[in-house]
Amino acid sequence: MSAFGNGKVILLGEHAVVHGVAAIAAGLRDGARAALVERRAASLHVAPWNVTARPDDGTSLGAAFSALLRAREDDRRPSEPAPTHGHIEACVALPGSAGLGSSAALAVALLRALDIADGIERDFARSQAVALAWERVFHGNPSGIDTALALVGGLVRYRRSAGSEPSLVPLSAARPLTLVVGQSGEPGSTRAMVERVATHRGREGWDEALADIEALVRCAEQAIVDGALDVLGNAMGRCHERLAAWGVSTPRLDAMCERARAAGALGAKLTGGGGGGCMIALVASENVAAQVADALARMGCPSFSTTVGGVSTEAR
Ligand code: PMV
Repeated sequence: MSAFGNGKVILLGEHAVVHGVAAIAAGLRDGARAALVERRAASLHVAPWNVTARPDDGTSLGAAFSALLRAREDDRRPSEPAPTHGHIEACVALPGSAGLGSSAALAVALLRALDIADGIERDFARSQAVALAWERVFHGNPSGIDTALALVGGLVRYRRSAGSEPSLVPLSAARPLTLVVGQSGEPGSTRAMVERVATHRGREGWDEALADIEALVRCAEQAIVDGALDVLGNAMGRCHERLAAWGVSTPRLDAMCERARAAGALGAKLTGGGGGGCMIALVASENVAAQVADALARMGCPSFSTTVGGVSTEAR
């Protein structure tokens, strides 16, 4: 039996969420799957990348795997069995370094595969704590939004909270939101971009930027609840401008957003860590989704459309 972790898109609030601002994100139907296939020394094979890692084998994947196994051991309750070790086969159905939460999806799939093998039912808070040990290896100071979405999916408002559980509020959309997710083809390093944003901390304009993004998230949440897609699209565009001012967009991402808007999108922005990776465009219909996808394809950028606040994702 294989276990699953969702990928995600952030609609608004990435980067600011690291610093305590709320963000809105949605789980993707695609993500990562994993299964423990043989009980023996721990190893992990990730099919589409064709890499095999062992705990502390000198690679970052090995370091993350080791951190997850250690965190799982540290989190063990007296009533639970000694942790199973073995060979795990995993498959990630998302592009990596693209802002779609592939590493968190993999962490959650692995954790769940091991928990299935041990017969453990782990609640959200415990799962989040263990999965974050993996994410810290890749991202340094993750807000936890990726692992939270990998665990729960759906459409949510997320806020990290120092020293306690994050707040995770499910949002009920008046109507499903159709997004086109476009891939720039440039790999983005979330860690490097989070560090870049942190250099603005305490500088002039920092507090205003955070307050503005908080207000945009609040406005977007109301727009989602009301079904006011034009208001949501506008908030997304303004959020992109804020992110660009922190230096986490790229000329290609900016151009993709512009083309998407010219093709009829109500709003477009980078999603996730940036520095490359993906952008999202909000569209009012499947027809406009196809026009946006065509415009992106003409730039050499593959895309897929996904409906959030509903359930369907389809590859293009
Ligand atoms: O690039 P991704 O998919 O890992 O998204 C990261 C989201 C950030 O807000 C940039 C970082 C974080 O930990 O919240």
